[in-house]
Amino acid sequence: MKRMKGKVAIVTGAALGYKSGGSSIGSAIAIKLASEGAKVVVVDINKEMGQRTADTIIREGKEAIFIPCDVTSSNDVQNVLDTTKKIYSTMDCLVNCAASYQGNIFQNVVNTPEVDWRHIIDVNLNGYYRFAKYTIPLMLECGGGSIVNISSMAAFTVVKNFSVYPVTKAGINALTRTIAIDFAPRIRCNAICPGFVRIANSEGSRTAEEVEKWIKGISATYPLQRVCSVDEIANVTLFLASDESSYVTGECIIMDGGRSISDTHVF
Ligand SMILES: NC(=O)c1ccc[n+]([C@@H]2O[C@H](COP(=O)([O-])OP(=O)(O)OC[C@H]3O[C@@H](n4cnc5c(N)ncnc54)[C@H](O)[C@@H]3O)[C@@H](O)[C@H]2O)c1
Repeated sequence: MKRMKGKVAIVTGAALGYKSGGSSIGSAIAIKLASEGAKVVVVDINKEMGQRTADTIIREGKEAIFIPCDVTSSNDVQNVLDTTKKIYSTMDCLVNCAASYQGNIFQNVVNTPEVDWRHIIDVNLNGYYRFAKYTIPLMLECGGGSIVNISSMAAFTVVKNFSVYPVTKAGINALTRTIAIDFAPRIRCNAICPGFVRIANSEGSRTAEEVEKWIKGISATYPLQRVCSVDEIANVTLFLASDESSYVTGECIIMDGGRSISDTHVF
């Protein structure tokens, strides 16, 4: 029995990677939900790569459409919901995943330019708010559903000189709880807080050899001795999106391979 059979799911930030076309977290989630029977609405600002996710799903004989959208635009977000309603007449699941890392954001609060602070808040936090705001009325009209917000361990622990991103993720966790309480019992809302997840975009300007060395170094700091895969995030998202998690709401689930509970004291 397919776990998302008959359900319609919107996944934001679901473009299939940047350079190599390898996976992002959102594309892995979109592909996973479709493989379990969902009709998936792929949403991203990146038109070429967003279409690639939908094409990949369709090639596998599953159902998806791509709708380009900048999550900072209320008109774009409203258009996603209007189009979804027109095509599928129902709405069961929203996965908020879109995030931007643009600008001079590897800085403390003093040195982060205001324009970059505002941009990151507007995409990473307000984008989740906008999608919730415009999706919830349709979800209620259709009988209810499940919202999954992709947050981060950065909501709890911070890296030096990386100030605005953790603020958005802590905000997402609070947003998750307010939605869970305000729209219970018909809507459940949960967040996933990953540690380091290997994505296509991780390569940045590094060579393949540099990427492997970098990931190996990070892996050594995790009790599970490896970083998380996009499929592992997609598996937990599927659980939270489906009726299997029917009594779970308002939770921010940590997926960090045990790193945050590990004490490095030597006795
Ligand atoms: N990769 C990690 O280690 C990690 C760890 C914890 C949390 N996360 C979270 O996972 C989510 C997915 O990130 P990822 O790691 O797959 O990175 P990614 O950069 O591959 O994916 C982010 C997607 O968001 C899209 N996007 C950016 N700005 C947008 C806008 N204005 N409107 C619409 N779409 C926009 C991008 O085009 C991209 O496809 C993010 O919320 C991120 O914060 C990632």
